[in-house]
Amino acid sequence: MKSIILLFAVTFGLTISFVLLNSPSSTPTKTKPDPMARSFVLWLHGLGDSGPANEPIKTFFASPDFSNTNWSFPSAPSNPVTCNYGAMMPSWFDIHEIPVTATSPNDESSVLKAVQKVHATIDKEIAAGTNPKNIFVCGFSQGGALTLASVLLYPQTLGGGAVFSGWVPFSSSILERVTPDAKKTPFLWYHGMADRTVLFEAGQAGPPFLEKAGVKCEFKAYPGLAHSISDAELFDLEEWISSHIQSSS
Ligand SMILES: *[C@@H]1O[C@H](CO)[C@@H](O)[C@H](O)[C@H]1NC(C)=O
Repeated sequence: MKSIILLFAVTFGLTISFVLLNSPSSTPTKTKPDPMARSFVLWLHGLGDSGPANEPIKTFFASPDFSNTNWSFPSAPSNPVTCNYGAMMPSWFDIHEIPVTATSPNDESSVLKAVQKVHATIDKEIAAGTNPKNIFVCGFSQGGALTLASVLLYPQTLGGGAVFSGWVPFSSSILERVTPDAKKTPFLWYHGMADRTVLFEAGQAGPPFLEKAGVKCEFKAYPGLAHSISDAELFDLEEWISSHIQSSS
């Protein structure tokens, strides 16, 4: 009988310390973000693709950090595309040549028009109460180029921009228009080394371009990867966004 009481006391004691260790007030520094912090992930698809076709990307983001994330997968409007002999297709801005190289010509006015639309979406999300630092813009190929342009030209600091197999769609004179707050937004750049559509050299030109403006950019090269997105990249992106989400409190 005595030993049963003792066992009970020990168990109770353990329960108490377990509860104390796990109560948030006993944790002096909060390292994990508030799971309820609202965040926004905007995904910009590539040429000829559609937003809904990319929605399965969400399934890679299983962490509870994404329990209050508003995902947006818009579709590009249908536009004539010069490199495809003027054929109409979903396209954010005009592209003159494929493959895209580090020195391909850009249609800057067309890019800037697309940037305005992305900015309107971001403005709306901030007006709805999302902390700008919890807003992440990601995009593949043409959508990656638009991600770079939109995040760089947004006047506030955002959570980050992730470019998959993209390129820099304007000349360095645009850097005069980048605000000091915008320069604090970090970038992550993924590029396949076997990419024959947007050449690896076009991707490699990204980080030096951003560094000229004092913008931080991590570059990740994937050997053997063609013009596509790999699961490894998406798992990596999940971790990167998770580590950048801010607590709302
Ligand atoms: C999520 O984002 C979209 C695109 O900006 C917006 O239309 C929608 O209202 C947002 N949803 C919520 C629940 O805020």
